[in-house]
This record gives sequence, structure tokens and C-alpha cells, in this order.
Amino acid sequence: MDRLETLKSELLSAIDGAADMAALEAARVGALGKKGRLTELMKGLGELAGEARKAQGQALNQLRAAIEGALAAKKAALESAALDAKLAAERIDVTLPPRPLAQGRIHPLSQCMEEVAAIFGEMGFTVVEGPDIESDWHNFTALNIPPDHPARQMHDTFYLAQQGEAHLHQGALVGESPERAVRLLRTHTSPVQVRTMLSQKPPIRILVPGRTFRKDSDMTHTPMFHQFEGLVIDEATHMGHLKGCLIDFCRAYFEVDDVPVRFRPSHFPFTEPSAEVDIGCSRKGGELKIGAGDDWLEILGCGMVHPNVLEMCGVDSTKYQGFAFGMGAERISMLKYGIPDLRTFFDADIRWLRHYGFVPLDVPSLVGGLGQ
Ligand code: DAH
Repeated sequence: MDRLETLKSELLSAIDGAADMAALEAARVGALGKKGRLTELMKGLGELAGEARKAQGQALNQLRAAIEGALAAKKAALESAALDAKLAAERIDVTLPPRPLAQGRIHPLSQCMEEVAAIFGEMGFTVVEGPDIESDWHNFTALNIPPDHPARQMHDTFYLAQQGEAHLHQGALVGESPERAVRLLRTHTSPVQVRTMLSQKPPIRILVPGRTFRKDSDMTHTPMFHQFEGLVIDEATHMGHLKGCLIDFCRAYFEVDDVPVRFRPSHFPFTEPSAEVDIGCSRKGGELKIGAGDDWLEILGCGMVHPNVLEMCGVDSTKYQGFAFGMGAERISMLKYGIPDLRTFFDADIRWLRHYGFVPLDVPSLVGGLGQ
């Protein structure tokens, strides 16, 4: 019996000392495996007889039960320790900001697009988009810019070569019907006004963000840039609505409640009357500040939609009227965020993005705040 007690304490301490599942399995095999120490003793039972065999059998069975119990208990303990370790290793503090936020930034232009859409969205405008490759008819003719109109020259248009034609003869097919008209990279977002009026009935209230293209490159021009177009058409809209809407926009966007806004008479072929909008600013000490001051900055063009445009887009100009506006997205971003050079927008310089970019989860809204 003493030998069994010794064996028992040895087996139990092997089980108890197992540091992991593999060690526990080794202890189990050492005790209960085919050649385990307890198994060997069991095999020896056959050589005993009578009472001795019975007594030894009982003792071995008790030992076996004790070993099995210890194995099961140790297994459970190891499993729960493994789970605890895993949980500790995978611990997440959900109140910390996600790590990529420390690096990634939203480009100021994307931020600007979101901010402008949030403001006009609040006023009931729907965001609509149109194609970058346009027909000459949508980009010019339907906007009351006929083929010989000087505005066409001002737009520095990128024309696409016609199919089967290596070089485009300037002027060929210009002014033709939408299907036959020459293709070009749209020079402004205004053709989306045309597309919208042709495809939906008034009342219309849309905001069109998008890419635009002109053959121009210097400090203040890049061949690709972005605009926002606005269009409102219904039976009763007038110049007062245009002014109210754009003044509200300027205040919300620049986040200056009393920013002075000035409407200056201007000319665009697609609006009559037309105006350009300036906001007040000061340049004291070489620093540009939006708000009251003795200087003005032009930020957008606008006007009442020309009856010729309404008619060309199938809208009855005796029944409907409305206003439109267009502005440069880079320009209003530069003014708001104090970015001095337009070309840096498209340099893809990570240091620039880190400096001027926005934290991704700061989604602009009028209630939550627009910029930083
Ligand atoms: N399309 C004009 C441009 O690119 C901007 C513009 C001016 C758009 C007046 C309008 C508008 O809708 O009414 O210069």
C-alpha cells in the first residue's frame, strides 16, 4: 500500500505540475496510457488471487478515479487560464480613438464637398452628378452659348478627337445636336443643369459637385479642378430667394455669422440677370481674415436662369423660373482653410495632407459643426 501511496503522490504531482496541455497529456499517458504506471499495475492483477486481488483491485480503482479526477480538474484549470491569457492579450479599450485615425486624413477638398453638401442638404437640395465627358451641346449650346459666342474661347476647352479622326478640326460639329455634337471634358458643372431639366420635371432643387477641366495651369489654375453647381426651378422663385439662399450659405460655410456678402452685377450667357458674389475680408498684416474688413473676395457666380436655357431644356419659361449658381471648390477651400497655393491640392504630399487634412470621424454637419 505504501508503494501505491507513493505512486499516487508522484502521479498527482506530475499532473499538478503540468504547465500546459501537452505536459498534462504526457502525465496522463505516463499514468493511464497503454504502458502507463497504473495500467501496468492493473495488468499485474491477474497474477494475484482471492482477497489480495480484490483488495489490490479496489485500491487501484480508487487510485485511477483519483488520477482521472485530477486530470479533469487540471485540464479545466489550464483551459480557463488559456482563455484568460487570450482575453488579456486581446484586450481593447473601446473608448480610445481607432489607431489609423492618428495617420489618415481627409483631403480638404473632400471635406469642403461634405460641408457644402451638408449646408445645401439642410436647405432641401439633392446632390446630383453628371459625366466628366460631355457633349459640346450640353456644355455650351443648351446653356445659351452658341458656336460663335466669345465665352467658348474663355473656357480653354479640352476637346476629344472624334472617332476615326486623328486631329479635331476646331469648329467642326460644334453647335450640333446632342448626339452629333463633338465631345469635350466639361469646362464647368453647369451642363448638369441641362441634364437635370431634361430628365426631371420642376420643382427642381439640386446641388452638383464635380470635376471640371480647362487648359490652364499656374499658381491659381490647374487643368482639373472642382465646382459646385446649384439649380432651383419652380413657379415662384425669384432673385430674393437667390440672395437669401447664398447669404445663408456664406454664413454657414465660413462660420462667420455676420460675414458681409455683396452681389455685383455681372454677365453669364445662361443667366439673366447675372451677379457675382463677394464676401468681406481684411488683409491686415498680410493675413487674410474672412469677415468684416475693407476688402472683398469673389467666391461665386449666379443669376436667374435664362429663359432660352429653360426652353432648350424643355421647361416652359412662361410658367417656370429659377436661379442657378456655380463656385470653385478649391477656391472656397483655400479661403476657409488658409491654403495659399492651388497646385498643392494635387501634389499628393503626405506632409501637406497631415497639415491641412481632417480627422475622418469628424463628419461635417450643421448641428455637429462643420470644420475643425
Ligand atoms: N459656370 C460658371 C463658370 O464656370 C459659373 C456659374 C456662373 C454657374 C453663374 C452658374 C451661374 O450656374 O448661374 O464660370
